[in-house]
Amino acid sequence: MTASVAISGTGLYTPPHSISNEELVASFNSFVKLHNEQHAAEIAAGTMPMLTESSVEFIVKASGIKSRYVIDKTGTLDPTVMTPRIPERPNDELSVLAEIGVAAAKEAMAKAGRTAADIDGVICAASNMQRAYPAMAVEMQFALGIQGFGFDMNVACSSATFGIQAAADMIRAGHARSLLVINPEICSGHLNWRDRDSHFIFGDVATAILLEAADASEATNSWEIVDTRLKTQFSNNIRNNFGFLNRTAPEGVGKPDKLFVQEGRKVFKEVVPMVADMILAHTADRDIAPAQLKRLWLHQANINMNDFIARKVLGRDPEPGESPVILDEYANTSSAGSIIAFHKYSADLNPGDLGIICSFGAGYSAGTVIVRKLA
Ligand code: COA
Repeated sequence: MTASVAISGTGLYTPPHSISNEELVASFNSFVKLHNEQHAAEIAAGTMPMLTESSVEFIVKASGIKSRYVIDKTGTLDPTVMTPRIPERPNDELSVLAEIGVAAAKEAMAKAGRTAADIDGVICAASNMQRAYPAMAVEMQFALGIQGFGFDMNVACSSATFGIQAAADMIRAGHARSLLVINPEICSGHLNWRDRDSHFIFGDVATAILLEAADASEATNSWEIVDTRLKTQFSNNIRNNFGFLNRTAPEGVGKPDKLFVQEGRKVFKEVVPMVADMILAHTADRDIAPAQLKRLWLHQANINMNDFIARKVLGRDPEPGESPVILDEYANTSSAGSIIAFHKYSADLNPGDLGIICSFGAGYSAGTVIVRKLA
């Protein structure tokens, strides 16, 4: 049994292509123009609604997003395609999802000063899996040369924090010395790029977290996991009904609910208080006053949501850098968002400092991970 578990290293893979809001809106508006021209008769007859253009100003104001990274820019921006073109690979090649996860994992291992021989398993915690089985985690485990076990889990945008709790519990119970939690997110594949309300929301990325017994950690930026807490509460307001049965059922083919759909306003109203209350309750139960939290690494979905949560937790406006924002550059990257923020903005804190990693999203689901800097 291990008393205490630490995050000894994190890794980040950023795809090579970025799409600015200007490029995105130009492509979307070309699609709208084409669609309205092609369906002029139905629109005039009132059997089909006319589509409306998007705007850069709306996107920045409503979300704080200025750009997003993608695996494939050409297909995504082509107004006649509006979907990423990511060719299938043969079975003897890694899937793209596993490949970007492995890239992030290698950085996390290097940061922790660990090799494959030190690690006993891989959890792929992400909102969509490119291939069903063998599990994505098993592909990544094989590519990394890790003995032991691997499995996939999906709790949408909260997958990383749920993965951290699962890994920490297994290490504490003595079932593994060290585990990798990997969050490869090809969100461009499940975003409806033709939907004006949400076409700007997501981007692609991969993050990885290496966990091990705290007393074994030799890393320079190492964080003890003080406590974790998870919550799910059913809601229809964020959905993706894709699935192997739904995909082939005749009534399902081509329906927009096989991609990401949401009631954005309701999500905003319901998730913000749920998450702020959860952080406050979790820290209070551990006798940690909000003022003791040196940093909040929040899920990156929307700048207004993050500001609201940070204000409610801290009881004042967050100081610059206290609740770091990466969604202006990366957009919403589902489970990876809070881990990107942690990866980029944790090394400057001092031993003993406390912080909280917090995810929230579809389910609804939310996870809080209270961490204390070791070294
Ligand atoms: N360009 C220009 N205008 C747009 C637009 C676009 N792309 N999309 C919507 N609008 C318009 C709407 O038509 C509406 O116009 P109206 O007032 O004349 O009817 C107006 O902007 C407001 O639309 P609404 O959808 O209510 O926007 P919003 O202010 O709620 O912001 C979200 C939309 C999605 C950014 C916001 O609800 C949100 O952040 N929700 C949180 C959910 C989230 O981020 N989830 C991710 C998964 S965790």
